[in-house]
Amino acid sequence: MLKNKTKSSIGVFDSGLGGLTVLKHLLEKLPPYDYLYLGDTARVPYGGHSQEVIYRYTKEAMDFLFSQGCRLVILACNTASSQALRRLQQEYLPEKYPDRRILGVIIPLAEYASKSNNIGVIGTRATIASKAYEHEIKKLNPQASVVSNSAPLLVPLIEEGLAGSDVTNKLLKKYLRPLKIKKIKTLILGCTHYSFLLKDIRRIMGNNCRVPDPGEIVANSLKNYLIKHNNLVSAHKKPGSRHFYLSDKPENFIKLGERFLGQKIDNWKIISL
Ligand code: DGL
Repeated sequence: MLKNKTKSSIGVFDSGLGGLTVLKHLLEKLPPYDYLYLGDTARVPYGGHSQEVIYRYTKEAMDFLFSQGCRLVILACNTASSQALRRLQQEYLPEKYPDRRILGVIIPLAEYASKSNNIGVIGTRATIASKAYEHEIKKLNPQASVVSNSAPLLVPLIEEGLAGSDVTNKLLKKYLRPLKIKKIKTLILGCTHYSFLLKDIRRIMGNNCRVPDPGEIVANSLKNYLIKHNNLVSAHKKPGSRHFYLSDKPENFIKLGERFLGQKIDNWKIISL
């Protein structure tokens, strides 16, 4: 059952569970806001689809979140950020919601990565093919070398609750090998789902490679953004409300989500996009 929904919330969107790895840090660092989380569990994973399809799915998600009163939406999904964000900001928002904002996850992570010269990125097929990280990092640090690899099977395994399993760790080693060979110094997890594997990825990459937690970087960046745009969403004196919307059956999402967040998910609802 949903209760206490306010008209000035922050929307957090992902194709499935991945955005929870961002939401967790938002709840820790920015608790007084109201959050609406939307997971498109009916259509996850997005990463193998074309740009046109990913744009359409993401736009439908924005229509829903804005109809629920969100003033600001975080695309807590690299695939949506790399395939849809620019068009949403340049065409959709000015036409339909000129007073609302959509932010992605790639720029804050690229800013962090660009302090290093030897960077690796893993992500979904769509994100890696877009070269969004390379472009953003090179704008900030033209000397940087960026190697990337797509890891298409990780999202389905994580959605199945197989983080930490032998099969996932075997695949991880295979996906990370080309980056280890290049002796990268910083690895960017270019898919929010992969933070479910953060410990295993850090162990496999070893002590000479920094693997930051993307959710923490995104939350810090949002904190700064909200200081500069302090009229966009209203903060309460105490922690705000948390609502979860899913486009298909909730059981897996709720079980894995509660385990990851370390708290109950009881304010949820199934919706159609
Ligand atoms: N968490 C999404 C991302 O950051 C997952 C992509 C997918 O659905 O394939 O890219």
